[in-house]
Amino acid sequence: MTDLAATLDGNFALDVVKGLGQPIKSIPSRYFYDLRGSELFDEITRLPEYYPTRTELGLLQKHARDLARLSGQRRTVLEFGAGSVTKTPVLLDAVDAQTFVAIDISGEYLAQSTTALGQERPGLRVIAVEGDFTRPLDLPSLPRPLIGFFSGSTIGNFAHHAAVDLLRSFRATLGEGALLIMGIDTRKNPQLLEAAYDDAAGVTAEFNLNLLARINRELEGTMPLDAFEHRAVWHDGYGRIEMHLVASRDMTFRVAGQAFAMRSGETIHTENSYKYTLAEARLMARASGWEPMAYWTDAAEMFGLHVWAAATQEHLP
Ligand code: AVJ
Repeated sequence: MTDLAATLDGNFALDVVKGLGQPIKSIPSRYFYDLRGSELFDEITRLPEYYPTRTELGLLQKHARDLARLSGQRRTVLEFGAGSVTKTPVLLDAVDAQTFVAIDISGEYLAQSTTALGQERPGLRVIAVEGDFTRPLDLPSLPRPLIGFFSGSTIGNFAHHAAVDLLRSFRATLGEGALLIMGIDTRKNPQLLEAAYDDAAGVTAEFNLNLLARINRELEGTMPLDAFEHRAVWHDGYGRIEMHLVASRDMTFRVAGQAFAMRSGETIHTENSYKYTLAEARLMARASGWEPMAYWTDAAEMFGLHVWAAATQEHLP
């Protein structure tokens, strides 16, 4: 095991034990993405109910020429949370990228997908960085200015204050003259939202439950998977979809040497997915050192594609 993997594992055990020890139990959603979790997420992106991936891909394709025009001389693309890199080739082609840096928490999955991308594009320099983009990253020196790509509305996993902190850190990483291309999910009819997070085929339920399977696999857990149910609910006040795992009976279990008890009906909160109006998204940009430059959405306004420019010094607070 590498030092990095050891560190990440240490945090996994610590974060899970801490989260399960709270009066309202929760586990950070970034732990969904072990190899199996990444595969399941990939399956989610192809579900009929899960509109974000295909809508965002359509927007990237439709606005490829606009992206080319806006990107100017920028030829280095940095993707935060690259995962399966399915949408990336459209962007790389649009801006005629020479260098592509893919950052993802699931190193194994990232290695698979970036190797394939490198083979398809012999002219492209591909750099895979295994790491958590919410923490300081060790990046090689890169041809600037840079284009950041943060797709799929991953920003939705962060509470508003944490989202602003993250976007500020992207601004610091990307530097002067950078662009940030952001996919941000829109606020919409709660029925459509809840269906997207509770699909008929049960793939999202399996994705949610895989978190417990991962705990059992990696942290000597004894969590009874058959005694948890997947739940997805829209919370209008917070503007977010919440995913939970609901205990269907009283239970006790162990994780990483610690004992836990849950009552029937008690939940483990596993994910938030915040949705944004256009005004909210623009406010978030300006609060974090970015200037909104362009915005595109589909006819039904299911998903938003934003282009932001690094605010110059005089625009920063
Ligand atoms: C990858 C965080 C954008 O919130 O839509 C999909 C994750 N969770 N279905 C999202 C997810 C359940 C996804 N993000």
